Amino acid sequence: LSNGLALTPPMGWNSWNKYGCNVSESLIRSMADAMVSSGMQAAGYQYVNVDDCWQTGRDGAGNIIADPVKFPNGMKALADYVHSKGLKFGLYTDVGPMTCAGRPGSLNHEVQDANTYASWGVDFVKVDWCYNNGLDAQTQYTIYRDALSNSGRAILFSICNWGLYNPWIWGPATGNMWRTTGDIQDSWSSITSIIDENGPRAVGAGPGAWNDPDMLMVGNYGTGAIGGGGMTDTEYRSHFAMWSIMAAPLIAGNDISNLNQATKDILMNSEVIAVNQDPLGKQGLLKSDINGLQVWSKELSTLGTRAVVLFNRSASAANITVNFDNVGLNATASVRDLWTKTDIGSFTTSYTANVPAHGVVMVKLTGTESNSSGPIISGKTYRIMAK
Ligand code: GLA
Repeated sequence: LSNGLALTPPMGWNSWNKYGCNVSESLIRSMADAMVSSGMQAAGYQYVNVDDCWQTGRDGAGNIIADPVKFPNGMKALADYVHSKGLKFGLYTDVGPMTCAGRPGSLNHEVQDANTYASWGVDFVKVDWCYNNGLDAQTQYTIYRDALSNSGRAILFSICNWGLYNPWIWGPATGNMWRTTGDIQDSWSSITSIIDENGPRAVGAGPGAWNDPDMLMVGNYGTGAIGGGGMTDTEYRSHFAMWSIMAAPLIAGNDISNLNQATKDILMNSEVIAVNQDPLGKQGLLKSDINGLQVWSKELSTLGTRAVVLFNRSASAANITVNFDNVGLNATASVRDLWTKTDIGSFTTSYTANVPAHGVVMVKLTGTESNSSGPIISGKTYRIMAK
């Protein structure tokens, strides 16, 4: 959406994956504090988003009411607090009469709610698809887009209709991001099936408009509000590497006030985040797949460079090779490991690494374009056409 927002994939935190309906003013304040004290703000995280269950009803004039017990000072005061930390504040609603958790949705209150959010200082609105009662998705989300853009405040618009009705086609003109899949769970099978669904949807993704394969589970270890028995640190590293190379929004969904070292190292790896935030805004693509040994490549804004994830979906360690010609580079390239932040050296034709089971090796290749007017130019043209 050309509203000047989300020129790179949005980064932040959302309450749902860890806390479900158990949201409150004190929780959100403590997460805003933690976003600063943990170093996540410095690493690029910005949005602090309340998901479902903050709302309890409407007053006689139809104005949405925040739960007075859980949010005793109201949403404006909470937004002000988040802003005082240099962060941005997000809320959740639904196109239908009710949210997924049965709280009041925005149907027939789109303009009123958008104006209320603007008056509170909301910076990000996620709009869900429960109780849609046969509404047309593109029509309904367009109504919401217009309500937000007429609200007088720059509000990032996050479409959450679970990949139904091809949002990657109409999404770029409608929202800043759109879900491509059903809800993520805290499990290896969930993230691999989401990668398979989200991977081929690159067509409309670019600055201002992103495929959203759902929020991160990194660091939950099975303790969240959503199903799934948890993942290992190796698997969370793969989850984060794949979301990064797919140019997905990086919205943490764990308790960021209590991060172990492994989770910090994943969520705040500056070189992996830089791949996600590269200003060219190209979604990385699957370049080869041999029995679950995959090579993903993302064009970056500097000509002759690629981010590459060697992704081992098999149950045992294996060698995976990226052939430079397969990612559009000439035969000689230098290789830098992005997790360990070390230069590995110069290689000819290809680079091979041993990758742990369910793990990744993530590298940056620096070489020269094998067809300098090729992939970058066609990528740019494609994005303009998609909008
Ligand atoms: C849906 C969405 C989730 C979350 C819940 C809240 O399931 O897909 O991301 O917002 O609703 O009820």
